[in-house]
Amino acid sequence: MDEILASIDIGTAKVAVVIAENTAEGLVVRGFGIAPVEGVVRGTVVNIHKAEQGVISALKIAEKQAQLKVKKVSVAFGGYPTKIIKGHGIAPVPKDRGTVSPTDIVRAIEAGKSIALPEDKQVVDYAVADFVVDGNPGVDDPIGMAASKVECDLFLFVADSAAVANLMRVMEELDLEVTDVVASPVGSARAILTEEEKELGAVMIDIGAGTTDVVAYKNRRPTAIFTIPYAGESVTHDLMVGLKLPRKEAEKVKIEHGCAVEQLVPADQKVELPGIGGREPRIVDRSFVAMIMEARLEEIISMAKDSLVQSGIDPTGDDYSAGIVLTGGTSITPHIVDLVEKVVKAPARVGLPGDVMPIPDGMNTPDFHTVWGTLNISFERKRLYEQVEAKKGKIPAFWDRIKRWILRQL
Ligand SMILES: Nc1ncnc2c1ncn2[C@@H]1O[C@H](COP(=O)(O)OP(=O)(O)OP(=O)(O)O)[C@@H](O)[C@H]1O
Ligand SMILES: [Mg+2]
Repeated sequence: MDEILASIDIGTAKVAVVIAENTAEGLVVRGFGIAPVEGVVRGTVVNIHKAEQGVISALKIAEKQAQLKVKKVSVAFGGYPTKIIKGHGIAPVPKDRGTVSPTDIVRAIEAGKSIALPEDKQVVDYAVADFVVDGNPGVDDPIGMAASKVECDLFLFVADSAAVANLMRVMEELDLEVTDVVASPVGSARAILTEEEKELGAVMIDIGAGTTDVVAYKNRRPTAIFTIPYAGESVTHDLMVGLKLPRKEAEKVKIEHGCAVEQLVPADQKVELPGIGGREPRIVDRSFVAMIMEARLEEIISMAKDSLVQSGIDPTGDDYSAGIVLTGGTSITPHIVDLVEKVVKAPARVGLPGDVMPIPDGMNTPDFHTVWGTLNISFERKRLYEQVEAKKGKIPAFWDRIKRWILRQL
C-alpha cells in the first residue's frame, strides 16, 4: 500500500474522519466516517472524555471501510476564540544559490510565525496571504525564481493553549500521533472554493453548529479570515425559546420543517409540535418557524458581511465577482441561498467538497469539507517539508521542532 494519510475534524456537533492513500493518480479516499460528538463548545474541546467517544465512533467507521488502523493524523482546529492576526516573514536567498528554494520559503514562513505571545497563547496554524520576491508582491509560487530575498505575508491563528492542549489530549488518549494542525477555516476553504472562484474573488461562509467561519479569496490567496461565534446551535436555541420546546425537539423541527425565508413559506403550511409533559401536540404555522430562523440567520450573515467590509472587502463589488459560497451543516437550510443573496446583495451558491476534487459520493456532504481540506493541506505541507529535509542539514530536525512547539503544552 502507498502512503496513508488520515485527518480528524472535531466540530461542535460531529466528528468527521477521512483516510486517504497517496497514489500515482493523486489522493484516493479509502475510508470516511462521522459520529455525533458531545463535550465541544464552539469548536473547543471542553470535555476530553466525551469528545473522545465521538472520535472513537467516527474513526471506527472510517477504519473499517479502509481496512486499516490509523496511527498518525492531521487535525482541524476550529476552537473559538482564535485570534487571526497578520504576520510577515523575510528570508534571504543564499548568494551562491541565487534562486528561491523550498528551504527559503519555509524559513520565511517560520520567521513570520515567530511572534511574541503571552504564555497562554500559541500560533496553531498559518495561511500565506502573499509571497513577495525582491520587493515584488503577488508571486504565486516563488520556488525557482532568481532572487536575493523572499518575504511572506501571513494570517496567523493564535489560539488559547489550553484549547489546543485539550484537542491534543484527546488524540494522545487514543494513541494517535498528531502530525499537523490545520485551522478549520483554511481547511474548509481548501475543499469548497474552486480555483476559478479563488482567482476571481469569492467568500466562503461555513455555517456550522457552534461557529461560522468566513474566508475571502482573491487572486488565489486569502484576503480575510474570521470566525463568528454563532451558527446552527443559535438557530436551534431561538426555536427552543420561540416554540417552547426542549433542545432535541427544537432541533428536529429545524431539520424537518426549517426554512431561511419566512416569505417563501406557502401560507397554508402547518407544523405539528410535540406535546411536552403529557400535553396535547400544538399546531403552528411553518412561516412562524421560518420567521424565528430567518431573524437569527440574517443576523449571522449580516455579521459576516460587516466583518468583510471592516476588512476592506466589498463582497458586492467586481473584486469578488464569484460571490458567496455557503457550506457547513446549516447551509442545508432550505432557501438559505435566497437569504444570503438578499442580505449580502451578491450571488450565492451552496458548495460541496465534490465540486473541487473527486471524492466518493457518500462523502460529498457539508460534513466532510473541513476534514477533507485539512487532509489535503497537511499533505501539501508534508511535501514541502520533505523537499526541505531532502537538503539535509540545512534546517536540522526542522519539522520536529514545529511539532514540539505545537504540542508544547502537553
Ligand atoms: N437540514 C438541516 N437544516 C438546517 N440545519 C441543519 C440541517 N442539517 C444540519 N443542520 C445544522 O448544522 C449544524 C451542524 O453543522 P456542521 O456539521 O457543519 O457543524 P460542526 O462542524 O460540527 O460545528 P462547528 O464547525 O460549528 O464547530 C447543526 O447546528 C445542525 O442543526
Ligand atoms: Mg465545522
